[in-house]
Amino acid sequence: MSIRFLQETKSFRLDTPKATYLFHIHEGNYLIHDYYGATVGEDDLRYLCARGKRNGTYPNSPDVNNREFSPALAPMEYSTNGSGDFRISALQIRDGGGHNSTDLRYVSHKIYKGKPAIPHQPATYATAEEADTLEVFCKDPATDIEITLFYTVFRKADVITRHTMVVNNTACAVDLERIASTCLDFVDADYRLLHLDGSWSRECTVEREALTRCIKTVSSKRGYAGHQHNPFVALVRSETTEDQGEAYGISLIYSGNFASETQVDAFYTTRMLMGINPEGFGWRLDVGETFYTPEAVMVYSNEGLGEMSRTYHKLYRHNLCRGPWKTKKRPILINNWEATRFTFDGNKIYSIAEEASKLGIEMMVMDDGWFGTRDDDKHGLGDWYVNEKKLNGPLKDLVDRIHGLGMKFGIWFEPEMVNPLSDLYEAHPDWCLKVDGRTMSTSRNQYVLDMSREDVRDYLLDCMAKIMDSCQIDYIKWDFNRPLTEVGSALLPAERQKEVFHRFVLGLYDLLERLLDRYPNLLLEGCASGGGRYDPAMLYYSPQYWASDETDAMERLPIQFGSSMCYPASSMGAHVSRCPSHHMKRTTPFETRGNVALWGTFGYELDITKLTDEEKELVKVQCEEYHKYFNVIHNGDLYRLIPPYTREEAAWMFVSPDKKEALVTVVVMMTKLHRNRYIKLRGLDPKKNYKDEETGKIYNGKTLMNAGLIFPEYREDFTSFKIHLTEI
Ligand code: DGJ
Repeated sequence: MSIRFLQETKSFRLDTPKATYLFHIHEGNYLIHDYYGATVGEDDLRYLCARGKRNGTYPNSPDVNNREFSPALAPMEYSTNGSGDFRISALQIRDGGGHNSTDLRYVSHKIYKGKPAIPHQPATYATAEEADTLEVFCKDPATDIEITLFYTVFRKADVITRHTMVVNNTACAVDLERIASTCLDFVDADYRLLHLDGSWSRECTVEREALTRCIKTVSSKRGYAGHQHNPFVALVRSETTEDQGEAYGISLIYSGNFASETQVDAFYTTRMLMGINPEGFGWRLDVGETFYTPEAVMVYSNEGLGEMSRTYHKLYRHNLCRGPWKTKKRPILINNWEATRFTFDGNKIYSIAEEASKLGIEMMVMDDGWFGTRDDDKHGLGDWYVNEKKLNGPLKDLVDRIHGLGMKFGIWFEPEMVNPLSDLYEAHPDWCLKVDGRTMSTSRNQYVLDMSREDVRDYLLDCMAKIMDSCQIDYIKWDFNRPLTEVGSALLPAERQKEVFHRFVLGLYDLLERLLDRYPNLLLEGCASGGGRYDPAMLYYSPQYWASDETDAMERLPIQFGSSMCYPASSMGAHVSRCPSHHMKRTTPFETRGNVALWGTFGYELDITKLTDEEKELVKVQCEEYHKYFNVIHNGDLYRLIPPYTREEAAWMFVSPDKKEALVTVVVMMTKLHRNRYIKLRGLDPKKNYKDEETGKIYNGKTLMNAGLIFPEYREDFTSFKIHLTEI
């Protein structure tokens, strides 16, 4: 078993292949954290938790017969508020008497094979052979509220997942005010906080900053992560690089407001929390009710950020994504959005599909504008009936014609939204999120539907089902284009309005689950004005996600590098777009746009009928390359060789799991005269010899990794090239 209870020291020991996680039951039944990091021996590590009570400003516990022990100093396994620990609290419950003093003490535990699901929420899954689970059952001694801490250890990966369950077995309702998914106390503070910051069209920019003696929060209050932050953070050492050093990743499987808080206290110890953002959150837990947090996924790597990312990639690809598409080759798609915006008709869609089908593209996706009176972004959102006039006939006719070309067909929805100028809003103004007496903010001219309401979800499922049942829809792009404001629900009583943010997310999960139940073969692609909701929870439903509306190849590089910190290539929507691109007015070579887009789930976002013959030939080549390199890219291991922010070039490579094949991509972002360009490869087998397909040259794996390669001299910005290596 990867989880053991050590009777002598009353310790819980969790072992992944290269890491150990230890905590123990202390006098007074406190749960005290001892260690998380590279594998340690069977020693008693409780000495690491000794802090020593320095003076009267650190209160004692009456349940511990040792004046040196203080909850304000001890490393807590799951910290609580108002019972002597002044650092950030994982748990804060306001009891029936109105107090928010919360405490947590060990009662019992169980260890078993496999992994339980979290009811009505997305989470990683595992068989009895893949994982073991520990449940630590605790109580708040004063109120009898029951708190269970769940830990799952993946036996073959350096992954530990955590979530928390609270049951109100008391005689009156209580209010959850803070309830994190995980809490980690570290003995020192010599870390850097790495997080993914951004804005629209600049998602997932890697930020790395020193911890100081304060609380640093990475969070969202928008109702979803948004473009500004992603629910992923890592603590790394100052010396940690792509290839070496410690990295503790924490990723939250949640599509709503999240917060990661990191505190360095007066004794230079560190506490890190990850979970639902306490700001804007509250939950009334009635007698007998249960609450589950989302799942936090912790990855430890002692081999740098690269190894941490590869662990996430494999886990999310195999143990989070579901359904027939999770590992299957996705069809190369063409989407008409950047080609036409709202100005198209059925004939235009067909002409794009017809040309695309000749070049090897496998699916036509009709984006926004096919329904209601949706000819601009002011009208029609919510009216999910086909505009047959615009499509020159029934949807089925168009879909059948496109299938007749040998292509699949996909369609765009933005289910959670409504335009004020729509039939839906006119009929059901109360179906929107709103706060009585306040003007509702618009964003992109739209309001947000109240997804916490079952009648709203039923309506949406019904609308989507009518479209789905009318013809063969193979794919849906599920968009979401604005944040939540004036967050109130017409159906909930005053004391439950604080639940709306979280209920919205649970409602979204419910709708997605019901849609996939009904159409199990449907391929979903998530989107929120690009990567605004590119989070692990969405990957549970949609194995691919449109990573950004920014399709300029150079701007895409940092977005894709950053997204790859946590998210696998198989999830990253990446398309070749027109040039100059919509936002950047920069012209990059068609080959380079293809080479950058090949990193993800590949496709096109342009008017293919307007390409030159030469460009069309390149489309054919790129489509063939997608098939040729599918295995190495999507099943392979990613190595970020040269990040796009440090030098004038960027490079990355994928190595197949058997190390027989590798694909290296280099993009010259800015040419420099008289500058030698040089690269060392990674992840190859030192015992194997590899042949460079282009030059025919043969190299030993050790040579490529230790001596490296010199690039050809390029005299033009934005050029790129690939090196395909196969074992001989
Ligand atoms: C935002 C998406 O990111 C775009 O790709 C496109 O689908 C538009 N919405 C359509 O309104």
